[in-house]
Amino acid sequence: MIKKVGVVGAGTMGAGIAQVTAEAGYEVILIDLEDKFVNRGMENILKNWSKAIKKGTLTAKEVDQIKVRLTGTTNYDNLNDCQLVIEAVVEKMSIKKELFAKLDDICPAETLFASNTSALSITELAAATKRPNQVIGVHFFNPVPVMKLVELIPGAETTAETVTAMKEYCSAIGKEAIVVKESPGFIVNRLLIPYINEAAIIYDQGVASPAEIDQAMKLGANMPMGPLALADLIGIDVCLMIMEYFFDEMADSKYRPALAFKQKVRAGHLGRKTGKGFFDYN
Ligand code: 3HC
Repeated sequence: MIKKVGVVGAGTMGAGIAQVTAEAGYEVILIDLEDKFVNRGMENILKNWSKAIKKGTLTAKEVDQIKVRLTGTTNYDNLNDCQLVIEAVVEKMSIKKELFAKLDDICPAETLFASNTSALSITELAAATKRPNQVIGVHFFNPVPVMKLVELIPGAETTAETVTAMKEYCSAIGKEAIVVKESPGFIVNRLLIPYINEAAIIYDQGVASPAEIDQAMKLGANMPMGPLALADLIGIDVCLMIMEYFFDEMADSKYRPALAFKQKVRAGHLGRKTGKGFFDYN
């Protein structure tokens, strides 16, 4: 029975996961390498709760009760009594594997490990632990408090019990879970990131400006936001990394990353998080 959940990585996704998990009644440990990262994640969550109070979706009393369940820390030993640990750290296989090996030493044998990876192989991540049967992909979408879907991705050795426990967790936090066979990008990113990449290629070719490309998709295809604003929301570095992974993994030229992604990442224009991407947020 899951009661206490550890979330490793206090960035946009990790903070969102910690927020919705605490709101659902779980005890939550939000962890990152440095205090400044933990504090930023906690501040973002507190901002969302202040907005919720203003909108009337939560009362101040409810927020006080939820807050008590959420602890931010840099001490990994605090994860030693969690029944579930979800990692939402940087999208690098070597870093995630190292983390899982470390968690394997800290957490009890029954703890489930989940990865919020947007594309990487769960089987490979699970192989870094001595409990590959208890490792699963749990892919959330940005902004986590708003987006209803979670993709659940069993690895080669993930048991049906692990999948069932994660389905229960997803349902408890108010998300719709879809179980997806392991493959690069699962369902959503396999479709969404090449679409965003094609928008960046259209921009590279001078077909239209970023504003026009986005307006076209909003008015012509009823997208809630245009593909290039979405690239800025996701992070252009993340979009590039996913396209590069598709290109390598599927050895198919149709997944070649747009030059605009590479140029913007080289310039440090990663999207909203740096204040500039395809659009300017300053
Ligand atoms: N955190 C919490 N709540 C947020 C939020 C955030 N970061 N951003 C928006 N919201 C809430 C608002 O408070 C508002 O709530 P309300 O209806 O209760 O007032 C609601 O969402 C709508 O927000 P806005 O009115 O400000 O703006 P929009 O109606 O334009 O919606 C949006 C914003 C929800 C971001 C919408 O544009 C959208 O759905 N965009 C597409 C998002 C998307 O495709 N996400 C998936 C990305 S892929 C991914 O994450 C996978 C990864 O692996 C790459």
